[in-house]
Amino acid sequence: MSRPKILVTRKLPYAVEARLKQDYQPHLNPTDHIFGQDELLSKAQHTDALLVTVTDKIDRVFVEKLPSSVRMIATFSVGYDQIDVLAAQEKGIVVSNTPDVLTNATADITLLLMLGAARGAHAGEAAIRESTWTNWAPTGYLGTEVTGKRLGILGMGRIGQAVARRARAFDMEIHYHNRSRLPANEELGAHYHDTPQSLFSVSDFLSVHAASTPQTRNIVNQETLALLPAGAIFVNAARGDLVDDEALIKALTSGRIAAAGLDVYRGEPNIDPRYRQLSNTFLLPHLGSATQETRDAMGFCALDNLDAFFAGNPPPNLVKPRQT
Ligand code: DGY
Repeated sequence: MSRPKILVTRKLPYAVEARLKQDYQPHLNPTDHIFGQDELLSKAQHTDALLVTVTDKIDRVFVEKLPSSVRMIATFSVGYDQIDVLAAQEKGIVVSNTPDVLTNATADITLLLMLGAARGAHAGEAAIRESTWTNWAPTGYLGTEVTGKRLGILGMGRIGQAVARRARAFDMEIHYHNRSRLPANEELGAHYHDTPQSLFSVSDFLSVHAASTPQTRNIVNQETLALLPAGAIFVNAARGDLVDDEALIKALTSGRIAAAGLDVYRGEPNIDPRYRQLSNTFLLPHLGSATQETRDAMGFCALDNLDAFFAGNPPPNLVKPRQT
């Protein structure tokens, strides 16, 4: 039997591409440019599966135009908001993602965002690089401590829980909201809030870890930001469209929100330019899963899903349309 043909939309880690070449007939993207919809569609002709990622737009219109040879879409990401899973399912196309393997790396970046925002790390780093640091000063570069503060986690899934474990090591008091409460033995002392509003009202630091869905888009908005204690710090390593940028920028400008640490943005990489002008933002370019170990593991996880499917089994990380 000939090896399945896989269209791979982005350049993947070396070891992942090596395994792809060994087990499949991959169409790789060595220049790593992002395919436009027409290019993606034309390259998808006569392929058996697509190996996509967060920079691809796999919406209903696109899915409906896919040739019938395409039977699976494996995404190299835990998030799958870029894929219309219902449209795929209706066309008989199986979808998979890469959960678990990026939990630790993403939780680490969340702590970096919290500390970076709280301690004004970017200003200090810029002073060194730009040679504007003149001397140590008792009142220079003052930030705020994380120790003893209340951390609100919106979305206590795998990544939220990994953030909670790390934050406990900083002696933070953990609060969370989730669609369903964790079993008592898994809460590890975290305080449950049955509404996001209740969570926001106690969060000295607020970190969002929710998937982007119609229910969560803009969940951080003018009303919910107003509930945070004055001087709170906001961090986001999940998805940019959970945040109403206008409202966050207004709160950061007024100082109502002391600082924000952001790794993800609506419309990235074309972020709202005002974030760059603000001195109380700590900004990273969607680095959550960006370690060699994690990106290798994401690739192998995507391949495990393809392997299972082409062996006639359900992929271990099968994605179903979300219940609304
Ligand atoms: C994902 O996998 O959804 C992440 O955003 C990539 O880091």
